[in-house]
Amino acid sequence: AAAEKGGYATFMEKEIYEQPHAVRDTLLGRTDVEGRLVLDDMSITADQLRDVDRITIVACGTAAYAGMVAKYAIEHWTRIPVEVSLAHEFRYSDPIATERTLIVSISQSGETMDTLMAVKHARELGAMTLSICNTHGSTIPRESDAVLYTHAGPEIAVASTKAFLAQITACYILGLYLAQLRGGTFADDAQSVMKELHEVPSKLEDLLGRMDRVKEIARFMADTRSVLFLGRNVGFPVALEGALKLKELAYIHAEGFAAGELKHGPIALIEAGQPVFIVVPGPGTPHELHKKVVSNIQEIRARGARTIVVAEDGDEDVVPFADEVIRVPATSPLLAPLLTVVPLQVFALHLSSAKGLDVDQPRNLAKSVTVE
Ligand code: G6P
Repeated sequence: AAAEKGGYATFMEKEIYEQPHAVRDTLLGRTDVEGRLVLDDMSITADQLRDVDRITIVACGTAAYAGMVAKYAIEHWTRIPVEVSLAHEFRYSDPIATERTLIVSISQSGETMDTLMAVKHARELGAMTLSICNTHGSTIPRESDAVLYTHAGPEIAVASTKAFLAQITACYILGLYLAQLRGGTFADDAQSVMKELHEVPSKLEDLLGRMDRVKEIARFMADTRSVLFLGRNVGFPVALEGALKLKELAYIHAEGFAAGELKHGPIALIEAGQPVFIVVPGPGTPHELHKKVVSNIQEIRARGARTIVVAEDGDEDVVPFADEVIRVPATSPLLAPLLTVVPLQVFALHLSSAKGLDVDQPRNLAKSVTVE
């Protein structure tokens, strides 16, 4: 078993460190010599995809958070409306779908019953179904019209890490492909985003080399009873995922919020010493979101929160209000989740092992839930 873990203490740690490969391998072979996207494992025709007027993403757990990231990115790049539905809610909500609707399921295992049933329901409604899946030949891709495989390799730890990054990457590929089909400036913009996406794996390698401080913070916080996570735009699902990882692995009460929602309720939770992670959008993010999140940090710090800030290299604006700054390499705003989620995964992993818990097999959870 030790050999299988490749020298790491747990499968989860190994899988976290495999993330640069997961992203790189998922991107591999998807562009031709001119940099145009090619999706060779896609059996829905380009003409059918050009007609898509609505996308609904169905998934559960971490995969649903990948879908939330995808919503922001795909809508921005294509102007096609994207909705994210928890698969178990989708089916019984009398969902709207036509033959021009693309239902995208996201599943690491390809066996999650809730997600499978959502796909079957979508087919009954006459929608096109596309599966983003990490497991070749599994049930969900077999039940779908088309499949875009993620190449994260087998994921053993129950809590998903590298599959999550690969799912987000596959969603980006899909969004950029749809943008390319739209042509004109959509296609031009897609090409430049694709170039930046190809730079992410080496940025991930760099990032994974600087996790020592995160491990220390996790060890110091072994007795913590509650942790909050704030994010905005694509940072919002990252906050939700950070909180989920902590619940799953360390059995700590954790919640993720959209930073703008703070003043509408959650700020009441802030008291002296309350740890809060804040995922800060890069300074180049449109609509001054960076400035707005920095002022959120200031507000909660003034009320005694212990602020642990995830910010881009070179972002000095956060420093005066941060108890800890965790640096991530800069990238374009919509791609940032591939980097900002990593310290949150590492934090949850090390907090769990500091508490002496079973990182790879948390209580009450299964790797794939094949019952409804
Ligand atoms: C289970 C796992 C989660 C996972 C979810 C969806 O609940 O514990 O880690 O995110 O299923 O799994 P899937 O295989 O469909 O991505």
